[in-house]
Amino acid sequence: MNRRNLIKQLGLSIGATVIGSEAMARLADGTLVYEIPKNPLHKRIDKPVTAITLGAGNRGNVYGNFAAKFPDQLKIVGVAEPIPIRNERYATKHQIADANRVDTWERIFDRPKFADAIIITTPDNLHYGPCMKALAMGYDVLLEKPIAPTEKECRDILALAKKTGRIVAVCHVLRYAPYFVKMRELIANGAIGEVMSVQHLEPIEHLHMAHSYVRGNWHNSKQTTPIILAKSCHDLDIVKWIINKPAKQIVAMGDLKWFKKENAPEGSTARCTDGCAIERSCPYSAIRSYYDKRLRLGVFDLPEDKSKQPEAIMEKLRTTNYGRCVYRMDNDQPDHYITNIRFGDSVTASFSMEAFTSYSGRRTRVMGSMGDMVGDMTELMITDFRTGKQSKMVPAAEDVEGYKSDGHGGGDWPLAHDFVQAVAQQNPKLLTSTIDASIESHIMGFMAEESRKKNKIMDITM
Ligand SMILES: NC(=O)c1ccc[n+]([C@@H]2O[C@H](COP(=O)([O-])OP(=O)(O)OC[C@H]3O[C@@H](n4cnc5c(N)ncnc54)[C@H](O)[C@@H]3O)[C@@H](O)[C@H]2O)c1
Repeated sequence: MNRRNLIKQLGLSIGATVIGSEAMARLADGTLVYEIPKNPLHKRIDKPVTAITLGAGNRGNVYGNFAAKFPDQLKIVGVAEPIPIRNERYATKHQIADANRVDTWERIFDRPKFADAIIITTPDNLHYGPCMKALAMGYDVLLEKPIAPTEKECRDILALAKKTGRIVAVCHVLRYAPYFVKMRELIANGAIGEVMSVQHLEPIEHLHMAHSYVRGNWHNSKQTTPIILAKSCHDLDIVKWIINKPAKQIVAMGDLKWFKKENAPEGSTARCTDGCAIERSCPYSAIRSYYDKRLRLGVFDLPEDKSKQPEAIMEKLRTTNYGRCVYRMDNDQPDHYITNIRFGDSVTASFSMEAFTSYSGRRTRVMGSMGDMVGDMTELMITDFRTGKQSKMVPAAEDVEGYKSDGHGGGDWPLAHDFVQAVAQQNPKLLTSTIDASIESHIMGFMAEESRKKNKIMDITM
């Protein structure tokens, strides 16, 4: 029996605990199962919010799938996407009129406003232009992170959002994940006394690193954004969010150490498909990842006919970056990166982003005056120093659609839901990740990168 059904059977009235604000169910082994209550500000809306998606790739489809699942909340009425098969599939799924399908974001703004909101899920270096244009034309915006590649552009977007009074929701999806919502609530309620420090780890997992930051779209920091923003603006943001104090100083170190030409093994070739002598034993082999294990195939736009997929995968490995040797790319993103941060009230945090792990899933330890908590995005263990009592907590959300697959602890769709409600009610208070609330952690990221490059401690001023 899964946890959701178990909770239903037990009934959530099984007794409020001293730890959380809402009732929780208790499993036979003593584990507490919590559910995050629905946002009390949500209202029934008469007609769905309409939106235009810019970039119908991975993230464009995450929010598109929310619209497909909840048509009473969100309707996608336009799309800008240059890859024909993505444009076609997206338009078909959402029944988008031909007149509202274009190849590039600029063309959406050649016409008068024709929706309530713009969803910006283009690559990192194509956030600023469309966001500024959308705000100037009176659209509300769901903006993928990172906000923009430079501090100045982030501040420009914030200033224009304020000037126009439009909503900009930044996709800091971890703020909507039940696990982190609960962690923040417990801290705010004093479950571990006064917070002293936080230790946070983002284990990227070695194949995810190879896929996205060595071979993939984020392999070159100059063409996208430095990895501390591209990958870990989430981490800086969530650490800041749970501590809930201003960041004062930051220092960072880290390098690209492994995925470099000098580490290319003897007998390796430019592509894994070129007859590489060590391909079968290489942990980063593209053939093993994509062809043998069929991992992360979303980037390949494979034909729907399954019998044609194996050859299509091999063709992609022969022709795209995804088939290139990890040691022979033009990548520059660090593969290990550490950051220390001093917050207000003498709270400190240390954060590590690590490529070389066999596992993924963020790990966080929070140390308080009266207890501590240790979590891995599924379980949260709290120890009370006064009683020695330990409480293990898990979210009830594990069988909610998207919870396991989104990699964000189930935060993607709750964010989409809050955004839709914020637009429908014209009330940004429904969101926890408006641009005002999100910009500070981006500034932390820019300062971390400057610290790493200049080898000095940076003051953070907002
Ligand atoms: N919130 C998160 O946790 C999270 C996770 C992954 C990615 N992201 C961010 O979301 C954004 C999109 O990432 P993705 O994984 O979906 O990438 P993706 O490559 O799958 O999708 C981006 C899409 O934009 C399209 N595009 C390129 N140029 C365009 C143009 N001129 N006009 C319109 N569309 C254009 C591409 O063809 C592609 O389909 C990035 O900024 C990324 O950093 C956020």
